Amino acid sequence: MKNILVMGGAGYIGSHTVKHLQEFGYNCIVADNLVYGHKEAVLTPNFEKADLLDKASLKNVFDKYNIDAVVHFAAFTYVGESVEKPQKYYENNVIGTLNLLEAMLTHEVKKIVFSSTCATYGNPLYMPLDEKHPQAPINPYGQTKFMIEKIFEDYGRAYGLKYIALRYFNAAGASKDGKIGESHNPETHLIPLVLKAIKGERDCIKIFGNDYDTPDGTCQRDYIHVEDLASAHRLALEKLDDFQGFLNLGTGIPTSVLEIIKSAEKVSGKKCPLVYEKRRAGDPAVLYAANAKAKEVLGWKPEYMNVEDIIRTAWNWEINRKF
Ligand code: UFG
Repeated sequence: MKNILVMGGAGYIGSHTVKHLQEFGYNCIVADNLVYGHKEAVLTPNFEKADLLDKASLKNVFDKYNIDAVVHFAAFTYVGESVEKPQKYYENNVIGTLNLLEAMLTHEVKKIVFSSTCATYGNPLYMPLDEKHPQAPINPYGQTKFMIEKIFEDYGRAYGLKYIALRYFNAAGASKDGKIGESHNPETHLIPLVLKAIKGERDCIKIFGNDYDTPDGTCQRDYIHVEDLASAHRLALEKLDDFQGFLNLGTGIPTSVLEIIKSAEKVSGKKCPLVYEKRRAGDPAVLYAANAKAKEVLGWKPEYMNVEDIIRTAWNWEINRKF
């Protein structure tokens, strides 16, 4: 297995995975429509502009390269927008993935590693979240990822598709060498927003709620370094013959919004201006992963177990960012 098609390889997690796979000797082909992705983040010369909803563009990629397996990141990922514009999300994420699977199967490509999310669980019934937790997504974004997981199960049975869907918790950080990092437009994620407030690019960080039932009243999340996500994708590619299914990717450590801000202040040596706002709709108080299954199945171990180290890579990117 040598040639890996990375759909959405110009995006945040995709670009870090391309970098990692190339370092491990894989030949990556990146396909991306560049709607949210950045050409500058693509660290392989094999780049094809393609769109999940343009079947001809997908066919072109599979005709041109001898693809062995696909890693599929391409999706719209804004939870709030998915509530406002569900059609956009179901169309791009679900129909787009069906188109990708069609192109794969007509070209006899049967291996896929997929970006899923802890948002497929919906409101947590217990903590930490393991893979057996019932899935009841509470927004269209989570629904699309959940539907795609179900499609994989059916395609596995019917067509012999070999799939692993990785359910990420909160992806964070940037590459150790500072070459690539997080760059969303618009940016909605906590850590980059905190760092921008520290830099003075934003007035302040708005903390969405400090009346949760948590130690400091702010929400707790499980921040997992993007390079640890990347290594899990490589290990998943290598496991596809032996295992098909769903794996959580998180550190298993809950960190609160205020703890993130404190760590960012420590790393940067500067104060972060903040204001308290009311709760954001749809935010559970606490979300963190049980990650034993990923560790066992993949032999994976996150390298970044301290959120301060994660933020240090994000800060290094933020002050030297190239895109
Ligand atoms: N937060 C703030 N202020 C902000 C932004 C975020 O207080 O300006 C808080 C949120 O309320 C939340 C935490 O910071 O408690 C993290 O928020 P993010 O928006 O960074 O991340 P989410 O946990 O909401 O979202 C992540 C992924 C989504 C995925 C979701 C699943 O980014 O793709 O987890 O719950 F759908």
